[in-house]
Amino acid sequence: MLWVLRGERLRPPPIWLMRQAGRYLPEYRALRAQAANFLEFCYTPAMAVEATLQPIRRFDLDAAIIFSDILVVPHALGRDVQFKEGEGPVLQPLAAGDAPVQLDAPALKRHLAPVYEALVQTRRELAKEKALIGFAGAPWTLACYIIDGRNRNDRFAATRRFMREQPDQFAALMETLTQAIIEHCRNQLAAGAQVIQLFDSWAEILLDGGAEDLQRWSVTPMLRIADILRRESSGVPVIAFPRGVGEHFELYTREGSFAGLSIDTTVTSEWARDHLQKRTAVQGHLSNLTLVEGGETMQREIAEMTKTLGRGPYIFNLAHGVLPQTPPDHVAELVQLIRGPRWKRAQA
Ligand code: CP3
Repeated sequence: MLWVLRGERLRPPPIWLMRQAGRYLPEYRALRAQAANFLEFCYTPAMAVEATLQPIRRFDLDAAIIFSDILVVPHALGRDVQFKEGEGPVLQPLAAGDAPVQLDAPALKRHLAPVYEALVQTRRELAKEKALIGFAGAPWTLACYIIDGRNRNDRFAATRRFMREQPDQFAALMETLTQAIIEHCRNQLAAGAQVIQLFDSWAEILLDGGAEDLQRWSVTPMLRIADILRRESSGVPVIAFPRGVGEHFELYTREGSFAGLSIDTTVTSEWARDHLQKRTAVQGHLSNLTLVEGGETMQREIAEMTKTLGRGPYIFNLAHGVLPQTPPDHVAELVQLIRGPRWKRAQA
């Protein structure tokens, strides 16, 4: 996978899946039952290492993503974070006029030490040829959870209002988050992560305010993070995943920025080949619902994607994380199809 992020083409393409560890795996559910809550799970290195390795053992995927969550960064910044069964994450909302969120870098490092320890241990246990991915949420997506406190399916209305009505306080929060994310990524790289993926899961909402808002609050801060990490860590590859932005994915391809762009189903494979792949490796973009469905639909979509994107630097992945109702057999079949005889013929 590291070769692809340097611009090489590999056949078959390397494959990993967002949320490859999780509730669709019986061995994950068994492990999860041993932890009092999800954060304790994330902060217990032995459990996080085991959850990270489970999908690698079962499916022989090409990369492991450290088992953690994007919301450990707000937690390390002192925000109350709870994962409620069946409800998703709930944070203490940030209101206009509240004391500013502040970064204490040594405190963040102490708080997240179990995540870094899990990376060290995972790298020790993981086969050499498998890449180890660290990750963080992008500033905008973290701001959405910090300000709204939870996803009410109203496109994070409180965050959008805060952005308009408290522009200075919002800009200060985004700056603090950018610095905190840089620290967290830096620490993950020092602990053995070889790639960083930045998740801007709610980037699409910024388009309500036009492409200028997307540029200012998603593209620019994510580029800054990638630039700093690349400069400090001799060219470490950063993958950006600004979900749902359609043709605006192109804004993220500035020369020498992200080594990879993770795309979803808001663009076609042809569009990604023509507009993105000359400047960056493309990762994606099978629908997670297609993976649930499996069968011929999955076979057809995979064939189409690998044919169109497989001629350039390409990493096979989903458009969004594996869903809990996914049959594990479909993941096994997916890996088989990607590594299938088609590629051997192509190489002969
Ligand atoms: O395997 C992996 O991909 C690594 C681990 C990982 C998790 N979350 C574990 C997790 C990663 C990379 C994430 C990223 C994440 N977390 C994102 C960005 C990607 C995306 O989905 O858009 C976001 C927005 C979150 C926040 C979050 N964490 C939500 C909304 C939820 C609840 C919904 C859900 O899918 O359960 C979580 C909980 C969570 N994070 C679980 C896992 C395995 C499930 C918790 C459990 O097992 O009880």
